[in-house]
Amino acid sequence: MYNQSMPVQVLDHPLAHHLLTGLRDKDTDPAAFRRCAKILTHLLILQATHGIRTVATEVETPVGTAQGRRLDQPLAVVPVLRAGLGMLEPVVELFPDVAVGYIGLERHHDTAVAHSYYSKLPDLVGRYTLCVDPMLATGGSAAQAISLIKAHGATSVTMVCVVAAPEGVEFLQAKHPDVPIVAASIDQCLNDRKYIVPGLGDFGDRLYGTF
Ligand code: PRP
Ligand code: URA
Repeated sequence: MYNQSMPVQVLDHPLAHHLLTGLRDKDTDPAAFRRCAKILTHLLILQATHGIRTVATEVETPVGTAQGRRLDQPLAVVPVLRAGLGMLEPVVELFPDVAVGYIGLERHHDTAVAHSYYSKLPDLVGRYTLCVDPMLATGGSAAQAISLIKAHGATSVTMVCVVAAPEGVEFLQAKHPDVPIVAASIDQCLNDRKYIVPGLGDFGDRLYGTF
């Protein structure tokens, strides 16, 4: 049973519910799936970057002086290949100066244990860092990815996913208790193949049309 006291932020917005339902629908084709994923990621990223540092500033409008705030902390995003790539473009659109790193992880077909096949990360010291991967199932992939991210100097990391399983949330919180999780849903459980129930199936396959 999912422990409500876990520091997981779950989106609660009508548009987020609508888009997630589109992703879950088995009849949604890859083009529509990509579109839903992109817009939903915008909402997730807004939530996940709520804590980024800003600085007070003054700006001249055409009719006076306004007090404002500007971003004052460099951002980094690390998509976990392959499915996490579907969440990269919205981050770059919202934060054009973001530094991008990549981690390739793939779950074994039978054991569901993830192995790393690629990693290219920038120096993450001082950066507000987002790890993006749509599915948090057992949590093994996210935990490995965040270990790599921390090894590159990150001290402020947020995990951003579309759907999480309670088992994955618990595992990730145990391995990285300092890492907040932002998700569009915490689902019921994992099935015997370690897929999220009800979930949305294989995100990577649905995103790229590789069934
Ligand atoms: C999926 C997903 C996560 C992982 C989650 O990737 O994108 O990376 O599974 O499962 P876990 O929490 O049990 O580790 P997958 O290994 O299927 O690779 P893909 O993105 O290349 O399809
Ligand atoms: N990866 C997916 O794409 N979906 C799941 O439900 C679990 C892992």
